Amino acid sequence: MAAPRKRPRLRLRKPTAKPTRVHVPKTAYSRRRAKAATRAAAAEAADPDGARRAARPAVDGDLTASIVDSLPVGLYVIDRNYTILCWNRTREAGPLGLLREDVIGKNLFAVLPSLKRSRVAAEFRQVFARGRILQVEEETGSGAERRHYRITKVPVKNASGAVTHVITVGEDTTERRRMEQQLFTSDKLASIGRLAEGIAHELNNPMAAIASAAEAVLRRSQASDFAGLADAGELRVLLRIIEEEVYRCKGIIGRLSDFSRDPGVERDRVDVREVLDSVAGMLAHQMKQRGVALTVAHAPDLPPVLANEGELRQVFLALILNALEAQPRGGALHLTTRRAGGEVVLEFADRGPGIPPEHRARLFEPFFTTKPPGQGPGLGLYISYGIVTAHGGHLEVDSTVGAGTTVRVRLPAAPALLTHAG
Ligand SMILES: Nc1ncnc2c1ncn2[C@@H]1O[C@H](COP(=O)(O)OP(=O)(O)OP(=O)(O)O)[C@@H](O)[C@H]1O
Ligand SMILES: [Mg+2]
Repeated sequence: MAAPRKRPRLRLRKPTAKPTRVHVPKTAYSRRRAKAATRAAAAEAADPDGARRAARPAVDGDLTASIVDSLPVGLYVIDRNYTILCWNRTREAGPLGLLREDVIGKNLFAVLPSLKRSRVAAEFRQVFARGRILQVEEETGSGAERRHYRITKVPVKNASGAVTHVITVGEDTTERRRMEQQLFTSDKLASIGRLAEGIAHELNNPMAAIASAAEAVLRRSQASDFAGLADAGELRVLLRIIEEEVYRCKGIIGRLSDFSRDPGVERDRVDVREVLDSVAGMLAHQMKQRGVALTVAHAPDLPPVLANEGELRQVFLALILNALEAQPRGGALHLTTRRAGGEVVLEFADRGPGIPPEHRARLFEPFFTTKPPGQGPGLGLYISYGIVTAHGGHLEVDSTVGAGTTVRVRLPAAPALLTHAG
């Protein structure tokens, strides 16, 4: 048996020696520090906040400049004469960017002539007068170049509370807005989709019953049952109409149900260029007839996507048909494919009339259409959206009224195939 381990004993000792005092001779430095400490204590007693502020170490000017330059937002500062005093590096980039060297010391309106002077001047006047932060949203460019900014104007006050300068911070919110919009659209479509599918499901059985009843009566009419009737021919025509219209309804219901796609649907590595060329080829005659000039620009090094070819075909067909229908008296359709990071991007750009802003938020809703009644149920974009998102992609529409529409399909590139050497 192992011997019991000895516990270490903790002994407290009484201090044997008194603490030693060491004499430090007073130097001019220590005398100055002592005086400064006394002054600081007196100042703090008189004005605690002010004294603390004064005692704070000053931030190195170079450091401040690097911090301002490192900010991921565009920033500039003007004084009350609208003279630019500070202009950070981020503000130099982007479509409205200007080099710092070209703007410092100049009047803001002289360097930014494109600014809507009266609106911006009114914003600055408001900040100078009220001394409160002002935030506005701004939009620049159009179509695919459209960008959104959140502009914040921050007043800088002197000791007596007067606004001496205004800091303007511009944050590019394009990407965030796009994601919010996508989230909103997919949420909205998911609930509309569930509703539409519920209705489609409920209508399926009565529609099938009407269709088979109409078929049965039609069959009997062709036998002898209608023989004695004077208007047998007319009845047959009416029955045919019932039958055709019921099948049309069943078709629409079927397409609506397509939205909840079967995730188990077969997918392969697909070269979207081939599918696009084949669909465009199928519609070449229609394009010619309508006077729509087709141009195609494919990226030479496009990776494949993991997709169901039939479904992709359906999307491309819907998008090309929309572009054709938007240009009944001729125009142009430019199809492009390119690679962007891990995505394969396809664009369908037409020179049609564009889509008015009030329609844009509704484009992907089922049954949203501007076509005359009976000419299209308004399911093309709805179904395309469902297919593209089910493939892990995105469907986007950029449109400028009077200039045209670009519909963009972004699909994740298929993962590279592993090859075993040797
Ligand atoms: N390229 C485009 N140019 C202008 N407007 C468009 C374009 N694409 C779509 N739209 C507008 O969006 C609406 C909805 O398009 P969507 O394809 O979903 O339905 P539709 O074309 O009206 O009918 P369907 O595709 O079911 O036959 C169109 O009616 C049209 O107003
Ligand atoms: Mg359509």
